[in-house]
Amino acid sequence: MTIKKKLSVSVNGVVRQAEVEPRLLLAHLLRDELDLTGTHIGCDTSQCGACTVMVNGEVVKSCTMLAVQADGSQITTVEGLGDMQQLHPIQQGFWEKHGLQCGFCTPGVMISMVGLLKENPNPSEAEIRDALEGVICRCTGYQFIVSAVQHAAQLIAEGNQAKETISSAGEGR
Ligand code: FES
Ligand code: FES
Repeated sequence: MTIKKKLSVSVNGVVRQAEVEPRLLLAHLLRDELDLTGTHIGCDTSQCGACTVMVNGEVVKSCTMLAVQADGSQITTVEGLGDMQQLHPIQQGFWEKHGLQCGFCTPGVMISMVGLLKENPNPSEAEIRDALEGVICRCTGYQFIVSAVQHAAQLIAEGNQAKETISSAGEGR
């Protein structure tokens, strides 16, 4: 008999409940149980970063965490960053600076960079590249991603309304 455990998480500000096997990964909880397919799975080895989300304000590769370990947590996925009416600065940066091609890595890259900008609002190119370690992009060569993050930092520094959003996302909303 398969033993299941009930859990409750707040995802992008909405409380979600599920009953899952203890072995279920957080990435699969998000995608398969909660239908939040913006979080991607690109490897089996914790290397690609496509599955990156925020858990209680910390950047986490969701394939490295069991769903039951996230019980009671506040989680932010790419779906929680912004929408077409009001893009998050990181989304605006990617939009304006062409920071993606196929887009498979993009959700994880964006969440990782939100984490970076929360800790370091004005990162140098070297610091951005350092923070990109662990999120693999096979398309862009990273230069446009760096430009997108720099642009997002500039938008935040200009104090646009989305600054509030990035702070909230950093707290795991
Ligand atoms: S799917 Fe999590 S690091 Fe690749
Ligand atoms: S845009 Fe294709 S993997 Fe990054």
